[in-house]
Amino acid sequence: MTLPKQSLTNDESSFAYSTARDRWPKIIKDCIADLEAQTQFDGAPIIEKFQQLLQDLLSDKKIVKFTDEEIKLDPDLKFYNEQFGDYSWLSGPWLYLECYMYRVIKLFFINAGHPDYDIFNNLKQSTLKLSDLGIIELSKKLLTFDFNLDESVKLTFFREFLDVSLWGNATDLSLLAGVVSLEEMQSIQGEKTRKENEKNIIVNDSPKLFKFLESHNKQFDIVLDNSGFELFSDLVFAIYLIKANLTKKVKFHCKQVPWFVSDVLPKDFDELFGELKNYDNEYVAGFLQTCQDYLKSGAFEIASHKFWTLPNYFWDIDQFPDLYEELKTADVLLFKGDLNYRKLTGDMHWPRTTKFETALQNLSTLGLPIVTLRTCKADVVVGLPEGKEDELKKVDPNWSATGKYAVVSFFQP
Ligand code: F6P
Ligand code: MG
Repeated sequence: MTLPKQSLTNDESSFAYSTARDRWPKIIKDCIADLEAQTQFDGAPIIEKFQQLLQDLLSDKKIVKFTDEEIKLDPDLKFYNEQFGDYSWLSGPWLYLECYMYRVIKLFFINAGHPDYDIFNNLKQSTLKLSDLGIIELSKKLLTFDFNLDESVKLTFFREFLDVSLWGNATDLSLLAGVVSLEEMQSIQGEKTRKENEKNIIVNDSPKLFKFLESHNKQFDIVLDNSGFELFSDLVFAIYLIKANLTKKVKFHCKQVPWFVSDVLPKDFDELFGELKNYDNEYVAGFLQTCQDYLKSGAFEIASHKFWTLPNYFWDIDQFPDLYEELKTADVLLFKGDLNYRKLTGDMHWPRTTKFETALQNLSTLGLPIVTLRTCKADVVVGLPEGKEDELKKVDPNWSATGKYAVVSFFQP
């Protein structure tokens, strides 16, 4: 089939256009500010590199292939060269270019001898500190929840806990460089707002997913998105799934490279747990204890793979046999967040009524049950009923990029 066009940074009608021009420079300037403030090493040589990157971006320079020397330092980069094209920063595929940018940044730190420095760590931690109301409210909800539920209400509560994880994705930090205010972010962390926002879940396959989990309850894998509050909300959902007997184990898949500002690296679990230890609250302490018990018993497992920080769409998962085999052990694979959704669907301008299965392309032939919880922060959205897009456009022409609408799509092979 002929595929639709990708989102491009020179397409004024795409959210890519403003992202590349406003948000990327802001992200780079924030990196420079972080380096200036840190005292662990001399940041000056890396700051110079960031300044050059900023200039290249603002003056729309062509991007260049990674050299053999660079590939020796970071073998993942060969996958970037394989997909390389004649692109400049402000004129090329949004998804590829933004992934490329985070790999260039990683290379700065490898070259400077600080390969493990997480340039976004301070930012990640600072917004977590602003999430305490949501953290206390949700810990209490989970710890006091009566899991002896009557059949008739099980689905209702499943949806409630799924919504916690779903709207956790609305707190993405990279968006703080743009569309969402801190007040909006905090309000979405409360139960009242979550309930009010149910009408904004414009595709909702959660009943179908619930039914599936009742008979497929061995292992539930989550391909994580953001750290901080979103990771906390995913852990709340994961504990709920285990306690409600909807799975025995949850495996969390993380990135290996600082990614789209706020994405989870394995060490961000410890960052979160360290932060939660500062709370003087019995429910938060109970939450923390449960996480630690589950990690110890193997009911929780933390994994990472290079694939998640390559430029590839998820249509290519079977080209990475080790990962593909690993994912096959899961009953269901949950992809969190906007970027994962873009990689599931090729970040293309599909007609909005396209079936989710169609947009998954090769991935729909691999025998993996796929679910996605995503608040919409980009162009691509599929699976809408006829007429819905027109309705949404009337309310807000930019509806698909505001983070105010969400989709819960489930594909069962
Ligand atoms: O919309 C801005 C943006 O950074 C996109 O580039 C990206 O898809 C998304 O936000 C990241 O969001 P998430 O953390 O939900 O993947
Ligand atoms: Mg993210």
